[in-house]
Amino acid sequence: MPKVLVINGPNLNLLGMREPDIYGSHTLDDINGKLAVLAKELGLDLEFFQSNHEGALIDRIHGSVSGTDGILINPGAFTHYSYAIRDAVAAVGIPCVEVHLSNIHSREEFRSKSVIAPVCLGQVSGFGAHSYLLGLRALANEVRK
Ligand code: DQA
Repeated sequence: MPKVLVINGPNLNLLGMREPDIYGSHTLDDINGKLAVLAKELGLDLEFFQSNHEGALIDRIHGSVSGTDGILINPGAFTHYSYAIRDAVAAVGIPCVEVHLSNIHSREEFRSKSVIAPVCLGQVSGFGAHSYLLGLRALANEVRK
């Protein structure tokens, strides 16, 4: 069964109580639960990782170099400036889809740029928790190829 690593970056552990008008009322556990149900339907094995630390995220991406078929990532604010996470994704060469709860293109100017999206297959942004489910469907299609 293809294995997908679901990575969440800083502050996403606070989902549910964090700016619910922007990010919705689902907790990260709720989202992971929805992903697990969908993964069963798609025939994928999921692993979950969240960290508030750039180095820990990079180490986890490196650790996926063997035995992981795809990465679904919400890098949080690192989206906009972490060249190191971008380089880690590029280095492992594993198909990656970037997701965001909010529409990063309709908010503050600094959020409209992702330095990580160019090394991903694509980006899903603006559909709340559903962005993760859409992203997983897109990734499933790619890891099966
Ligand atoms: C986010 C958007 C980022 O700009 C922000 O820093 C986050 C969450 C989202 O999912 O909408 O932490 O990645």
